[in-house]
Amino acid sequence: MNDGSSEVFLTGASGFIGGRLLRALASRGVPTRCLVRSAEHFPTRGFCGTQPRVIRGDLLQPETFRGAMEGTHTAYYLVHSMGGRSAFRYKDYIRKDLDAARNFARAAEESGVRRIVYLGGLGEVADNLSEHLRSRQEVARLLQSSRVPVTVLRAANIIGAGGAPFEMLRHLVERLPVMICPRWIDTRCQPIAVENVIEYLEGCLDEPKTAGRTFDIGGAEILTYRQLMQTYARVRHLRRWIFTVPVLTPHLSSYWITLVSSVPAGVVMPLVEGLKNEVVCRDHAIRELIPIRLLSMEEAVRNALGELARGPGGLPSCQSCLRN
Ligand SMILES: NC(=O)c1ccc[n+]([C@@H]2O[C@H](COP(=O)([O-])OP(=O)(O)OC[C@H]3O[C@@H](n4cnc5c(N)ncnc54)[C@H](OP(=O)(O)O)[C@@H]3O)[C@@H](O)[C@H]2O)c1
Repeated sequence: MNDGSSEVFLTGASGFIGGRLLRALASRGVPTRCLVRSAEHFPTRGFCGTQPRVIRGDLLQPETFRGAMEGTHTAYYLVHSMGGRSAFRYKDYIRKDLDAARNFARAAEESGVRRIVYLGGLGEVADNLSEHLRSRQEVARLLQSSRVPVTVLRAANIIGAGGAPFEMLRHLVERLPVMICPRWIDTRCQPIAVENVIEYLEGCLDEPKTAGRTFDIGGAEILTYRQLMQTYARVRHLRRWIFTVPVLTPHLSSYWITLVSSVPAGVVMPLVEGLKNEVVCRDHAIRELIPIRLLSMEEAVRNALGELARGPGGLPSCQSCLRN
């Protein structure tokens, strides 16, 4: 797919996943054209390889990126609108995400892009999904309604330094020797290391058979959230006691996670609401098309801690809501 003659269009380059993908593509000489809302948040440091082209535009304002995709062959959609510190207006992201996806799909179709690659969320619509997980599926559906073939990668929580799930995990386990948790602590999930997610996103470029298909991507282990916290504690040689109570609502859980972690309510609330939903891969077709070595959660946590130890300047990327 990457014929070397044209650029890849990248959205979300100022974010956690897009920032890392940008570096990975640059280091293998893939030319990129990045749509960012603010050049101030574009990662300018440490590029070895091809320098990206930066275009300023907002997916919620179609006139700001009209024609921006022309001449690119593949467009990555790595965007969401969750964020903000308000615990009351946190649902605004749902409408924004639908509008942004609709605008992007229309622009991709008009510009003649040959492929869209979207990283969304795991979860089955039939399973009474949280609003956040349902909204990620709706975004996939909107992108797929264009004439451009879409590859959808569906992931659960992505574990890496600078990402909201890892920051929530780290702050909870580091700061609370005893945790009183609701029942979601025993929901199963299949977290994946950020390094593996980037390999899959890159792999889609090299493997044309991924075009027009939806894949579940997950890490090497299926764990409960309790086991995920225990894994972190084991890596850090911490003793932690986790108890379950039946009455703690997602709203209450969100308040104390927001208090303990540095992650704002606008991200914690939608994520916590989704913890009731099992997010486990049901389809493994990606393993044959892009056969990578999946990292264990211990390896993912070790890598993330290693990156954090290098200081803020050592992080390859950071979740938009955690900047500053
Ligand atoms: N992180 C995870 O654990 C995880 C798990 C599963 C799936 N995913 C998926 O991965 C994708 C990327 O998420 P992420 O974790 O990298 O999030 P992130 O760090 O919050 O990045 C989101 C990106 O979207 C951009 N953006 C938001 N609204 C925009 C708009 N109107 N116009 C242009 N750009 C806009 C942001 O730009 P600004 O810098 O200007 O805000 C930022 O670059 C999402 O589709 C998400 O659902 C993430």
